Amino acid sequence: MTVVHHSAPGRVNLIGEHTDYNLGFALPIALPARTAVTFEPSDSAELTVHSDRADGPARFRVDTTPGAVTGWAAYVAGIVWALRHAGHDVPGGTLTISGGVEMGAGLASSAALECAVLGALLRAAGLHLDPIEQARIAHRAENEYVGAPTGLMDQLAILFAEPLRAQLIDFCHLTLRPVAFDPDARGVALLLINSHATHRHAGGEYAARRASCEQAAAALGADSLRDVQDRGVAALADAADPDTVRRARHVITENQRVLDTVEALEAADFAAVGRLFTASHASMRDDFEITTEHIDLIADAAIDAGALGARMTGGGFGGCVIALVTADMKAAVEAAVRQRVGDAGYRRPTIIHIRAGHGPGDQAAP
Ligand code: GLA
Repeated sequence: MTVVHHSAPGRVNLIGEHTDYNLGFALPIALPARTAVTFEPSDSAELTVHSDRADGPARFRVDTTPGAVTGWAAYVAGIVWALRHAGHDVPGGTLTISGGVEMGAGLASSAALECAVLGALLRAAGLHLDPIEQARIAHRAENEYVGAPTGLMDQLAILFAEPLRAQLIDFCHLTLRPVAFDPDARGVALLLINSHATHRHAGGEYAARRASCEQAAAALGADSLRDVQDRGVAALADAADPDTVRRARHVITENQRVLDTVEALEAADFAAVGRLFTASHASMRDDFEITTEHIDLIADAAIDAGALGARMTGGGFGGCVIALVTADMKAAVEAAVRQRVGDAGYRRPTIIHIRAGHGPGDQAAP
């Protein structure tokens, strides 16, 4: 049987954090970094998975069920399980994974792995599933097999990614609209500042935020916070519990910032986009409480050194900050951030200049 290759990128969410499971809006792009998979199908009923990030291979049967495989290989087994659950046969064989997306950095390394494995299995089986269906399968693997209660953003961001474009995702209607995103053409750079402080989403904080949002919606007599979006923060006037108000206020204002960012991008107004980034960070820090002192310091250092704006990206509690900087300020901002963060006793961050990259395909990892 033929050997197939498939790879999928990580994602950077430009804005719209913790809005996906609240049926709101987000605006992600794909990272240049990719996770690549080689699949050699066989007649066996077993899959063997090698990863350049693990000491030994993992082995499981193609009729695996939740709980049978744990750790990193659960994401792979989860895809096999979810694909079979959707009525598709999965052959046995050997999968070899080369992980190019840093784990725990808020860059959706889990979804990159899921989408790369899914694409390789589909390719080997000669199956064509539309990307929404693929996103649902990968999401199911993560929620029900791995047990991480994440939303649908990462899978949609990856599967629909296009170079030099962001995707405006509406999670209520499950629609995506490409939005031109080419700051470099306007003399502005998007910097990805990696704190190297890692998080774990299967851990309690993400689930706790999700539960708070559900409580907030219930307290407002709504099925989801999206139902009150049109009323804006005025919808919260009668809510009693201050924690509920702050969590919901983040979601409602963040959704509006996503829409405002799209408008600013359409006007190529990167100064306005920067201000929206900074406001989003403040909302994540003060209302949603998902940043850390380390991450706040990185964002503040970038802004104090002259960035147009900066915000944490991803689920929170560590990971990466993105900053928009004019080309003439880039070197100074990078140097100032490294210095201030190092002086505060944290590891010096890694900073790269990124552009919106390709979606999944048979391209190898760079
Ligand atoms: C993680 C989850 C996503 C989303 C973000 C926060 O990346 O996987 O579903 O909730 O956090 O925006």
